[in-house]
Parts: sequence; C-alpha cells; structure tokens
Amino acid sequence: MLVAQISDLHIGVSVDVNFGGKQIRIDPAATLKNTVTALNNMATRPDAVVASGDLAADGTVDQYRIFHELVADLEIPLFLVPGNHDDRSALRSVFSDHDYLCAEPDSLAYVVDDLSDSIRLICLDTLVVNKHGGHLGERQLKWLDQTLAGSHRPVLLFMHHPPISTGIPVFDKMGCDDGERLGELIESNPQVLAIGCGHVHRSIHAMWHGAMLHVAPSASYQYSLSMSDQAGIVPTIESPACLLYHYRESNGLVVHHCETASLPELKDITGPRN
Ligand SMILES: [Fe+2]
Ligand SMILES: [Fe+2]
Repeated sequence: MLVAQISDLHIGVSVDVNFGGKQIRIDPAATLKNTVTALNNMATRPDAVVASGDLAADGTVDQYRIFHELVADLEIPLFLVPGNHDDRSALRSVFSDHDYLCAEPDSLAYVVDDLSDSIRLICLDTLVVNKHGGHLGERQLKWLDQTLAGSHRPVLLFMHHPPISTGIPVFDKMGCDDGERLGELIESNPQVLAIGCGHVHRSIHAMWHGAMLHVAPSASYQYSLSMSDQAGIVPTIESPACLLYHYRESNGLVVHHCETASLPELKDITGPRN
C-alpha cells in the first residue's frame, strides 16, 4: 500500500522569489501539472493521493476550477483535505464528484475504509474561517474517538495544521491550537501509525505521542527555514516534493521524501535595470 501526500498547492496566485539578484516567478499551476505527471509515471504507482490543504491560494471557485482541471489528469484516486487558504463550500461545489467529503457545512472530515484491506485513511478538518491557525473542536475529536474505537486496522491520519511546535515561530503561532487533545487520542490508539500534515511548506518529522508525525513539503514552493523570532518567512527556490507512505504488513510503515520535479516552474521576470 503506497499513499502519496501532496500539500500546499496554492493554485491561483504565482509567487515571486529573489534568487541570486534575479526576480523569479513560480507558477503553482504549472508545477502541479508536473506533479500530476510525476505521480502518474512513478515506477510503483501510489494507490491514493492525499492533498493536505491550501489547495487554492484564496479559496475561490475559479481557483478550484483550475485545480480540478489540473488533477483531472491524475490516474490515481485523490482525497482532498482543507487548509487555512481554502473555503469549504467553494471546494465542495467544484468537487461535487468527490462523494467522500462530509456533508456537514462546517466540516470536511472523513474516513476512507475501502481503499485496501490493511490501511484506513482518516482525514481531519482544521480550517477556521478567516483565521490562519487551525482548530479541531470537541465535535470532531469525539467523532475521531468513536471512529478509531470502531476498528484496530492501521490508520494514516491527515490534517493541514501540525499539532506540534515545529521550532519555526511564524508557523507555531498559527498551528493547531487544540492539538494536544488529539495527542491524547493518538496515545490511546496505537493503530494510528502516522499523522501527515502540511501548512509549513517544509519537510519536518517528529515522534509525537507514540506515532510518527510528518509535515509534508509543499508540492508547489517551499518557505525559508526561519527559526528565530525576529525572522520572517519568504518563499525560496527549493524543489517541490511529496511524501510517500509505504505500508507493508510484514514491515510496517516507511515514509519517503520524493521530489516531484527538479525545481518549480520558474520564470525570470527581472526587469531592465536603470
Ligand atoms: Fe500553505
Ligand atoms: Fe496553511
């Protein structure tokens, strides 16, 4: 069983990076096109792809339409998770063919039970409208508790906001504010093998409440590593990448970091110098 996690696509708005004195423009849509091709062409093709939030830059219907068109070429089942840049109703309206999305207006959390006999996927919703930070809430935590109690099959859990302190102050101020409640559930449910998050646009890995916690790099563009309170974050020229969760009953879970393109789609937009 192989599950690919792509994160933080931010479709709809290009990003400019100062690189070696040049202004470089990154086009997330062109990069996603490359990612779709890379996933389709993997020697061992994933059984599923989870897109873990910030799917669109501003959560508009138009941006989701572009996203929908780009992933239409993906030949692998795709599961969507919302992030702080997303909008539940716009996402649901464009992806009305994705029946697994929960019908509740304020949640897109769901379980995927029928992908394989071995692994269950559980995707959580940490989106808080008009906020960059994330929250799970009592209702969702109760639902997760009941869902985990229903089966001892191994689980991969996905959510946009990391419930840990990453050591990057800018992102730690907008993490998942009730993540420790989730930690208690993880501790009492050892069938949860790993938690896959996004949001930070960097590859980060930690042991957390007895499970591995992975923050996926962006499949679009990365942010600089800023571990000081004073430093802000800026987009940087690092390759778009995904995480691959490889589960075998005989071997357990192994997670690979895999570049999906050698570099993002770059365009030099440096103007004439005065
Ligand atoms: Fe993001
Ligand atoms: Fe985010």
